[in-house]
Amino acid sequence: MSRQSRYLGLAALVMVLLPSAEAAVAADVTAQRIVAADKEPGNWLSHGRTYSEQRFSPLAKINPANVEQLGLAWWLDIKSRTTRGVEATPIVVDGIIYTTGAWSHVLAIEAKTGKMLWEFDPQISGEHAAKGCCDVVNRGVAVWGGKVFLGAFDGRLIALDAKSGAKIWETLTVDQSQDYTITGAPRVVKGKVLIGNGGAEFGVRGYVSAYDADTGKMAWRFYTVPGNPKDGFESKTVEMIAKTWSGEWWKYGGGGTVWDSMAYDPDLDLLYVGVGNGSTWNYKIRSDGKGDNLFLSSIVAVRPDTGEYVWHFQTTPGEDWDYTATQHMILVDLMIDGRLRKCILQAPKNGFFYVLDRETGAFISGTAYGTVTWAEGLDPKTGRPIEKAEARWSTLNKPALVLPGPLGAHNWQPMSYSPQTGYVYIPAIEAGFGYTPVDPKTFERRLGIFWNIGLDPVGSAIPDDEATRKAIRASTKGRLVAWDPIARKPAWTIEHPLPWNGGLLSTAGGLLFQGNGQGRFVAYEAATGKTLWDFPTQTGIVAAPVTYEVDGEQYVTVNAGWGGAAPTVVGEIVLDAAKGTFNRVLTFKLGAKAELPPLKTAARVLDPPPATAPAEKIAEGKRLYQTYCMMCHGDTAVSGGMVPDLRYSATLASADAWKSIVLDGTMVKNGMIAFARHLKADDVETLRAYIVQRAHDEKKRLANP
Ligand code: HEC
Repeated sequence: MSRQSRYLGLAALVMVLLPSAEAAVAADVTAQRIVAADKEPGNWLSHGRTYSEQRFSPLAKINPANVEQLGLAWWLDIKSRTTRGVEATPIVVDGIIYTTGAWSHVLAIEAKTGKMLWEFDPQISGEHAAKGCCDVVNRGVAVWGGKVFLGAFDGRLIALDAKSGAKIWETLTVDQSQDYTITGAPRVVKGKVLIGNGGAEFGVRGYVSAYDADTGKMAWRFYTVPGNPKDGFESKTVEMIAKTWSGEWWKYGGGGTVWDSMAYDPDLDLLYVGVGNGSTWNYKIRSDGKGDNLFLSSIVAVRPDTGEYVWHFQTTPGEDWDYTATQHMILVDLMIDGRLRKCILQAPKNGFFYVLDRETGAFISGTAYGTVTWAEGLDPKTGRPIEKAEARWSTLNKPALVLPGPLGAHNWQPMSYSPQTGYVYIPAIEAGFGYTPVDPKTFERRLGIFWNIGLDPVGSAIPDDEATRKAIRASTKGRLVAWDPIARKPAWTIEHPLPWNGGLLSTAGGLLFQGNGQGRFVAYEAATGKTLWDFPTQTGIVAAPVTYEVDGEQYVTVNAGWGGAAPTVVGEIVLDAAKGTFNRVLTFKLGAKAELPPLKTAARVLDPPPATAPAEKIAEGKRLYQTYCMMCHGDTAVSGGMVPDLRYSATLASADAWKSIVLDGTMVKNGMIAFARHLKADDVETLRAYIVQRAHDEKKRLANP
C-alpha cells in the first residue's frame, strides 16, 4: 500500500468515527458519481449499483482462490415492529450502509463495524399492512445529495437527512382511500426521485411519478393504464392506450402498477419502467376479453425530465395470468449477429427472456427460460406471443392449469449480469397454477381486504386433497439459471428444492452470490456454477447481496429475513423453508470469524379441539377463508412463516378468543385487522370450523409423512 493511499484510508476512518467533522459530505451522491460508479467500485451508490442495474461489482479481492476463508464480520438485528420479509438491496456510500427492513424501517449502519448510526420508523399502521398482497416488505432506499429517500408502505415518499435520519420532507404519492402500497426502491435521476406503487390485486390504477429531490414537489406523473374516458385523458399517450381497452375497465382499476424495476441510460437519456399485471387479472371482466390493454406487462421508455413517452414493448398482450413485466431490467451492449446493439434485458413473469433494443424498443430475441405452457413461443419478428388457446381461462370461462403461475418464472428477486462470463443469472421459479374464473355476472369490485382479481376464491382447476397437495409441493421448484443472452440458452443450471430464493450478485472476482430459502448463503464460481462456499444463515434469504470496500478490505453484505409473496400467500409450497424468527443484516469478509447466536425455535403445539362440524360448514368456511384470510395466512391455511399458522393457534380452542381477534381486531397493531366490517359472528365460527379441520388434516399428514 502506498503512503498516500494509507493516508486516505486513515482519513476515511476518521470521518466515520467523527461524523460531525464531515457534515457537508454525508451521502453526497450526485448524477456524476452514479454515472461514473465504476470509478469508485468500493461504493454501491444506487439500487443496481449502476444506472444500468447490472449488479456486477468490479471488486475482486474475494475470489475463488480465497473465498473459503470468507467469514462473518458482523451482524445486526433489524428491529422493525415484527419480523416479516426483508427484501432490500443496501446502498453503501463512503463507509455507511443505508438499508431497510420490514414495515419500511430504515437503518444507517457503519459498514466496517456494523454499528447502528440511526434508525427511522415511518409508523405504518396495522390497517395499512392489510392493503398489500405480498407482505409488509420494502426493497430499499435511494441516496442523493445528502438525503435518503424511502417509499413507505402506506404510499408516502419520505426524505431523510443522511447524517441524522431526521425527516426533511414527506409527500403522499397515492390516494390512501384506495389500496395502494409502496414496496419498491425509489431511483434518483437528475435530481428527481422516481417512485411507483403496487395494488393491482386490489383494484388500483398504476402510475409512476417524479418528485423534486430538494423539495418533494411533484414534477410529473405517467399513467400506465387509462382511467375513465368520461373524466378526460391526462395526455395524448393515455388517449392512445385507451384504444387498446374495452368494456368498463376503470371500474376495476386496470392495474399496471410500477411496483419494482426501473433503469436509466444517461447517454440516451431514457428512463425504463417495468409495468405490472392487469386489475382484475381476469381479462374477460377487466376488458371484456378484448384488446392488448397497454401498458400492462410492458417495458416503457420515458424522458426522465418530463415523463414524456418514447417507446414501449408489451410482453403479454391482453394479460390474463398476473404476468407482470415489473421484473428487473438490465442495460448492456451486446454483439448480436456481428452488430453491437444497445440492449435491455428482462426475464418477466411470463417465462420468456427478452433482449430488446433499448434505443427503439425493437424486439431482438425472446426465449423461454423455464417451463412455459401458455404459449408456443414468440413471433420471431415482433416478439408477440403465439398463445395456446386453452390457456385463456377467463374468456373460455374454463379452469386452466398453466405454467408459469402468478409467482412467475421469475419474480422481483434481482438478477445479475457479469461482463466476465457474459451470463445473466436468473433466480428462476417453476410453479404452475390453476386459474379458475369467477362468474363475470356476479363479480363486483369491493374495497377493503379483497383481492379483486376475478378468480373463483375456492377454485376447481386443481383437486383439493393431500395427494394433490403433495404432488404440487414436489413439482414446485426454484432454479438458478446462468443464461447466455446471445446463445439464448442456459450455460449451467442449479436446481433449488424451494421456489423462493434470493437475488444475485456477481463480481470481477469470478464469484456469484445467492442466499436461498433453505437458509444458506452461497458463493458459486460464476463461470461454472460450482459451489465454493456455503454459510448457514438460520433463516431463508430473499434479498440480493451487495459488495463494497472500506479501508482496502472487501465486504459482502446481505439482508437475511424470510418473507414476501410466496411465504405469505402460498405457504404450503415453501413448507421446508428456514423460517428464522429474526431479520438481520449479515456482513462477511475474508478471515472473519464472528458467530451468530444460537437459533431459538419456539415449540409449536398442534392441539385442535375435536372436529365436529358437518362437511357443508367446512366447505363454507373454506370459501370464507379463501376470500378473507388466505392472502396472509396462506391459501391452504399453511403459513409460510411470518404470520401465525392458524392450525397451531391456541385460540382455536376458544370461540370467544377467536372471535375477539378476528371480529373485533384485538391484534390490529401488527397487521391482523378487524373483520367486523365484512363478517358476522356466525361466519367467524364457520371459519374456525374450517381451520380446525385443517389442523386435523395436519395431524394426519404428520402421522403418515
Ligand atoms: C393482512 C394480513 C392478514 C389477514 C388478511 C388475516 N390475518 Fe390473521 N393475522 C395476521 C397477522 C400479521 C397476525 C399476527 C398478529 C400479531 O402478531 O400480533 C395474525 C393473527 C391471527 C390470529 C391469532 C393467531 C395466534 O395464535 O396468535 C388469528 C386467530 C387470525 N389471525 C385469524 C385470521 C382469520 C380467520 C382471517 C380471515 C378472516 C385472518 N386472520 C386474516 C395477518 C392477517
